[in-house]
Amino acid sequence: MTDKYAVIGNPIAHSKSPLIHAMFAKQTGQDISYEKIEAPLDGFAATVEQLRTEGYKGCNVTVPFKLEACHIVNGVSTDVIDAFDSGESADAINTLDFRNNEITGYNTDGTGLVRDIENNLDVQILGKRVLLMGAGGAAYGVAYPLLNRQPLELVIANRTLDKAIKFEKIIRGTAQFPVTSTTASSYPDLSGKQFDLVINATSSGLSDKMPPLPDGIFAPGALAYDMMYGRETPFMKFAREHGARVADGLGMLVEQAAEAFFIWRGVRPDTRPVLENLRQS
Ligand code: ATR
Repeated sequence: MTDKYAVIGNPIAHSKSPLIHAMFAKQTGQDISYEKIEAPLDGFAATVEQLRTEGYKGCNVTVPFKLEACHIVNGVSTDVIDAFDSGESADAINTLDFRNNEITGYNTDGTGLVRDIENNLDVQILGKRVLLMGAGGAAYGVAYPLLNRQPLELVIANRTLDKAIKFEKIIRGTAQFPVTSTTASSYPDLSGKQFDLVINATSSGLSDKMPPLPDGIFAPGALAYDMMYGRETPFMKFAREHGARVADGLGMLVEQAAEAFFIWRGVRPDTRPVLENLRQS
């Protein structure tokens, strides 16, 4: 019997997740269906309950329901340590598993980001100077998996400095990452500093703006990673013009989906052909 999955969001029309999971299913011979469902803004929990009643096995959660999702889970799984860490600390869940009559929550975004950077782009995070821009849900969701890769330092920069300070305190409070120095910074205070990996986890690209980065922020050979995909953001353009290697978030999208697929099916799909296919379409 075909096992049913879905992604819930609002809006959801442009989601690539059904296409990605269909390619994973075909490649691995898994008998699943995967559809997109638009939940009313005040109807996320009811939509999840309906899916469970109808026998769905799990779902992905996207904007704007990732924070709400953490309130309906029975537990956050310890099976995947990154998912556990980021799910708990980030208060953001993007994957639900309905097995055993419970709702188990995961956050696979951070694992997806790290896999894209290390496996697809071939940049090892160990020992690197990393700048993470943003202190919203997107940044929270990736901080712990990044720290698990033991960069030399992690600087969190945010337009509203207070939010970066709070974020950095939460990270430091867990005391799990003795290897890395973590600090919060304003953008002007980044002046004179250089990073090997600069990650844009702000929503600035949505409004065609970019965080006010000083010139000279990219170390030689640096990777500039924008978690957005679909078009060149001002940050990507700036990075290109300043000599950095540039990546968008399409690889992260595919990798976070692969992690969810693995959680549900116990099979890890080969992400490369899927990413190539999406890049061409
Ligand atoms: P998300 O869940 O996508 O992270 P969010 O919680 O609204 O969304 O957070 C958006 C992040 O993008 C914030 O860190 C925001 O900075 P502020 O905390 O100062 O608002 C950041 N952001 C949005 N537009 C920006 C811009 N033009 N320049 C710099 N940072 C920006």
